[in-house]
Amino acid sequence: MRKSSVRLAAALAAVALVVTGCSSSSKTDSAAADKQLEIFTWWAAGGEKAGLDGMQAAFEAANPDTKFVNSSIAGGAGVNAKAVLVSRLEANDPPDSFQAHAGMELDGYVKSGKLEDLTSLYASEGWDKVFPADLLKTLTVDGKIYSVPVNIHRANVIWWNPAAATKAGITAAPATLDDFFADLAKFKAAGMTGLALAGKGDWAIAHLMDWMLLASMGPDKFEGLFNGSTSWTGPEVAAALVNFQKALSYGNKDAGNLEWPDAGKLVTSGKAGFFIMGDWASAQWQSDGLVLGTDYTWAPAPGTVGIYQWLSDSFTLPIGAKDHNAALAWLKVCGSKEGQDAFNPKKGSISVRTDSDLTLYDSYLQAAAAEWKVDRLVGSTVHGVNGNNALMAAYSAAAGKYLSGGAKDNAGLAKDLAAAYEAGKA
Ligand code: GAL
Repeated sequence: MRKSSVRLAAALAAVALVVTGCSSSSKTDSAAADKQLEIFTWWAAGGEKAGLDGMQAAFEAANPDTKFVNSSIAGGAGVNAKAVLVSRLEANDPPDSFQAHAGMELDGYVKSGKLEDLTSLYASEGWDKVFPADLLKTLTVDGKIYSVPVNIHRANVIWWNPAAATKAGITAAPATLDDFFADLAKFKAAGMTGLALAGKGDWAIAHLMDWMLLASMGPDKFEGLFNGSTSWTGPEVAAALVNFQKALSYGNKDAGNLEWPDAGKLVTSGKAGFFIMGDWASAQWQSDGLVLGTDYTWAPAPGTVGIYQWLSDSFTLPIGAKDHNAALAWLKVCGSKEGQDAFNPKKGSISVRTDSDLTLYDSYLQAAAAEWKVDRLVGSTVHGVNGNNALMAAYSAAAGKYLSGGAKDNAGLAKDLAAAYEAGKA
């Protein structure tokens, strides 16, 4: 057995102990009282599925008599899953637990009365002592905590293929936007597409725009966009959108047909230079057999060195969940050290827990864990921190419309973004 498999087996056995032997479990909250557990995510393929599989294995080790029903719906950032979820919640037919982002997205589900309060679970599991206090705030509404975070992802990462960079004469990661644009021109001169773009479903273009707003305006002005102190139609956004327009001009022309894993392949196959994407890209490539540091490498995205644009996936307990005991058992695995350390190394994210075993994580994730502690933390808009589902849907649609319009109407985009912000308040 490989060393990592031995570690995983040990971790799973420990999960079994943690969950079945947990002092806070009363007799009735053992998962065995429920025959099944239905989990709803958008982690349907590649590195995302590998991560979920890791946590499923942890759950099954602890709850062998409960069938794990995986109701994932493919489509990055939940573009397809969220609509199905909302209609199920409206019809009072919730899954037993669903994926929701920490921050305003979660807040939306809480305010519409869809989630159970998990504060007592936090107390019995001792999570308030091992999850960062700042993160807990993003899961708390009116003093009650409503979900269990499983990870921290980083949105502002630039990825490239070292061989392609060498071919283009690029010797260092671009630290500033000026460096970035200079390198895009070098890739172009070497016969490659400068920037890999994924336009299908809009969100990945909005993800790129979100980074560009942050990189161009700096973290204070960027955060001001979401508290009303920076205008969406003012000069800072206008300047950022000029940069966005310029970046898109170096993109692949077939972006509209590509999902993010397809765009990522343009980079790893040497056809395109850079990819701005969250760190789930690394897990995706590893699930394809590629090697970090050899086939692809990374840096904090240009203009945002020292900033960690974060997001966190969490799991909930919807009101009316049919398999309530199984859902509680699942949430205990989600919050446990062993569950998180089985999930995150495969998902390409870091554990939320301050006592995570970093020896299980690759060099990228170890660096991310170190930077998470010292960097300026700024939330991701496309992945739920800064705005609710209504804001996110309109934000992504605005970016998608701009791309399909040939990236020409900057004033129209600024107006659409202002309207997206307003939609989030409604
Ligand atoms: C995010 C999610 C990540 C990853 C990504 C791409 O919204 O938080 O875990 O799934 O979408 O699909």
